[in-house]
Amino acid sequence: MTAAAVTVDDLRRRARRRLPRVVFDYIDGGADAEWTLRENCRVFDDVTFRPRSAVAVPSCDLRTTVLGTPLALPVILAPVGSSRLFWPRGEAVAARVAGATDTIYVLSTLSGTRLEEVQAASTGPCWYQVYLIGGHDVARAAIARARAAGFAALVVTIDTAVAGMRERDVRNGAAALAGGRLRPMLPYLPQLLARPRWLLDVLRDGGLMRFPNVELAGGPMAYADVGAALAASVVCWSDLAWIRDAWGGPIVVKGVLTAEDARHAVDAGAAAVVVSNHGGRQLDGVAPTLRALPEVVAAVGDRIEVLFDGGIRRGSDVVKALALGARAVLIGRAYAYGLGAGGAAGVRRALEILRADLVRTLSLLGCPSVAALDRSYVDARL
Ligand SMILES: Cc1cc2nc3c(=O)[nH]c(=O)nc-3n(C[C@H](O)[C@H](O)[C@H](O)COP(=O)(O)O)c2cc1C
Repeated sequence: MTAAAVTVDDLRRRARRRLPRVVFDYIDGGADAEWTLRENCRVFDDVTFRPRSAVAVPSCDLRTTVLGTPLALPVILAPVGSSRLFWPRGEAVAARVAGATDTIYVLSTLSGTRLEEVQAASTGPCWYQVYLIGGHDVARAAIARARAAGFAALVVTIDTAVAGMRERDVRNGAAALAGGRLRPMLPYLPQLLARPRWLLDVLRDGGLMRFPNVELAGGPMAYADVGAALAASVVCWSDLAWIRDAWGGPIVVKGVLTAEDARHAVDAGAAAVVVSNHGGRQLDGVAPTLRALPEVVAAVGDRIEVLFDGGIRRGSDVVKALALGARAVLIGRAYAYGLGAGGAAGVRRALEILRADLVRTLSLLGCPSVAALDRSYVDARL
């Protein structure tokens, strides 16, 4: 089914057909009025290409390295919480496809699959994204597990002081459904019953997931507790010191939108930053990430690697972000739609679409490789 998808938007439509509204909207939605979410995608229209025509490009080299790791294409799978609700053992499924594609999978703290199982599922490197949920000792334990399991880098997300206001989740009864108590769930159950195949998959996969990487005193954190747990677990620059000591490997700071925060990340010893606004899911009204990218590259691009995410739906979007200075991009929804539409086949299709787009765009630009991309290939009116 997913093989016939021509674009990421086709995968989105298929995901919408397979998933109940509450799950689809959890992936698709953003914070408040969703202005930043829309702008993240729209802003790519403000960058146009400056092709070098009548140039033969016999093959386009998509390879790059990130933190010393060779990647077959400059596209990394971003941390996406609760992926196990999109497809059985969704995190392990996506990690396996990333490994087979020779790229990196980033596992969220808020995943439904044990981090050891996820790393074991991939033949390639995975990164672990940490929230300090449950307090420093609980996070320390997860960091130690991630190190023992062989994760290659630790991603510290800094834009989640509290969970963003996702209005769609509220309207769809996400909290009531996650609570697991029948009476409050009742008004919202029809949307689940309307997707019997999905429901069967979830039940076969063990029912409503918990968070096995957040080991609290009473066992893995329950689904219903996320909002309060996030609000009680803000990460500050001063935390980076003990996180770095506990981890002992490269740190990636995710959620940087300004030169000031990029410099803080450098001072805190980060090896890379991700210019990210969490896909428009946190503070609505912040700039679309493509507009923030040049400022961050100018501030720290000569000292650490600058990665980018937000709004990538086509290979041409990847090319624009790279031309403006990103070393590689992360994709969230683009593969999450694929996972929800058809599991591994859908994630593979999302990556194939982006890869084919990348090759075609570079050929048409007259550019031999992603490494050769720079501002001379674009006209940015950001
Ligand atoms: C459903 C969903 C869940 C997410 N969960 C997390 C998370 O647990 N941790 C995190 O750092 N970012 C999370 N993100 C943000 C992504 O890592 C990434 O920044 C964002 O999706 C990029 O925008 P895009 O979806 O337009 O590609 C999530 C995004 C989505 C869509």
